Amino acid sequence: MSNSTVMPSISVINAIAPLRSQIRQWRQAGESIAFVPTMGNLHDGHLRLIDVARSKADRVIASIFVNPMQFGKNEDLASYPRTLDEDIAGLVAHHTDALFTPTPELMYPRGLDAQTYVEVPLLGDLHCGASRAGHFRGVSTIVCKLFNLVQPDIACFGQKDYQQLAIIRQMVTDLSLPIEIIGVATERAADGLALSSRNGYLTATERAQAPALYQILQQVKHAVAAGNHDYRALEQQAKQQLLAAGMLPDYVNISHQQSLALASSATEPKVVLAAAKLGSTRLIDNLEL
Ligand code: PAF
Repeated sequence: MSNSTVMPSISVINAIAPLRSQIRQWRQAGESIAFVPTMGNLHDGHLRLIDVARSKADRVIASIFVNPMQFGKNEDLASYPRTLDEDIAGLVAHHTDALFTPTPELMYPRGLDAQTYVEVPLLGDLHCGASRAGHFRGVSTIVCKLFNLVQPDIACFGQKDYQQLAIIRQMVTDLSLPIEIIGVATERAADGLALSSRNGYLTATERAQAPALYQILQQVKHAVAAGNHDYRALEQQAKQQLLAAGMLPDYVNISHQQSLALASSATEPKVVLAAAKLGSTRLIDNLEL
């Protein structure tokens, strides 16, 4: 059986040799390459990443890989939505040249425990890292592997995963990877909810409650803009509001935009980051202040 299928206008590749040969072919033609790594179940936020990638390079390649290394033992690896046919249709409609769809066996042939890993210290321990042990190690390891395989000039990531983006930027700097990382603004539903593959887990009632997360972050933003610099009090107040809106807050943190350490001064560039459980679904969002 062949490892590479030519679709109407996308090459779907599921092995390393044909991936490398495709990349070599583009390089030999002098073409630049933009890369969009994903876990699939693509929504408009992902397709926006593809459009930005398309505007920045001659060739666009995406990957779909539900990465077991970034899921905790009690998390949703088994139930994570897998919608490959719809995803390919979306990628074709947005003029993606190639899609890499590896299996866990291809990425981690010796198993997760024996796998060499990449870990970005400090940044990876904060916020989501504090409640999802090993999550960012899984993210940085797979992104580093994918970067080594695809060797792109540019890679696009959503700002919705603000901490992930900061970690990937730090990894690229620390490991001297010659890749420009582009952060793309969060796509939102009309009611403000940040698009996420996990939104599909929400019941109709929860879906109606979910925009409260964004509204509460907007209130924090307005309070800071109005001159309230008691950040710890604002964080506590936002957590109370999340509880009142039927969510279980994990954290609300007003942090420095680059170090992601808790903000303390009025002049530093700030972002408010939040995570909360709504029923069994974990939602995250953020707003630069
Ligand atoms: O943001 C995601 O979808 C994933 O964390 C990523 C970057 C594709 C790594 O698995």
